[in-house]
Amino acid sequence: MLPSCSTPQAPSRERVTRDREFRRRTRFWNSQTDVTFTERSEQRGSEPKKIACTETASVRAEVTCQDAAMQIAMLVNGVGQSHDVEARTLLVQYLRESCTLTGTKVGCDTSSCGACTVLVDGESVKSCTMFAAQADGADVTTVEGLADGPNWHAIQTAFHEQHGLKCGYCTAGMMMAAVGFLAENPNPTDRDVRLGLEGNLCRCTGYQNIVASVLAAADSMKLGSMKLGSMEADSMETGQ
Ligand code: FES
Ligand code: FES
Repeated sequence: MLPSCSTPQAPSRERVTRDREFRRRTRFWNSQTDVTFTERSEQRGSEPKKIACTETASVRAEVTCQDAAMQIAMLVNGVGQSHDVEARTLLVQYLRESCTLTGTKVGCDTSSCGACTVLVDGESVKSCTMFAAQADGADVTTVEGLADGPNWHAIQTAFHEQHGLKCGYCTAGMMMAAVGFLAENPNPTDRDVRLGLEGNLCRCTGYQNIVASVLAAADSMKLGSMKLGSMEADSMETGQ
């Protein structure tokens, strides 16, 4: 529950601690996304709904109060979603609770484990470090959007075939992080994969099979694009 605007209260110790953590989690993302966020608002011809990351808990409570509810819209797995959210709603909460896409997991809620990783405009992001409002207008992909109908994404096939999971709790985040990583580094070495996925934790597998899965997915994606390239070359030659 949001605090009442009309009855200001001194923040409790617990609240101050929570707010300190809140600022720590959001500072990096805010510094990265202010420009994009403002630009999106300008494109829509509206005032930027910037989320303030204020210096004291009581001030933030006021700001949060003023911005208590806002309407946001985004594409999630190619489907338009629009909901009223509280300013403080995290993207992971929004995806799980408003969009009912529960494939994205919450492992730590402190930006440590990567279980909540999704793609925002093609880049992998820990969705517990970002407000839902910051994804307003964005194109978000969750694990539910990886497969193309009945056809699994190469990373899903690789995790299945290489036994890249045990309990599966980290797997959605691990696969989304891997997809973002492979988009930037399609020819990774074993070490590249370990460095690229160091923000994602797994407490079951020992990582060996996860690394093998990502390398297998890289190979299969390369093979897929080579096949696509030769099909395009054939059709250009035959004029079809
Ligand atoms: S739940 Fe987001 S990083 Fe752990
Ligand atoms: S498979 Fe269990 S946490 Fe990774």
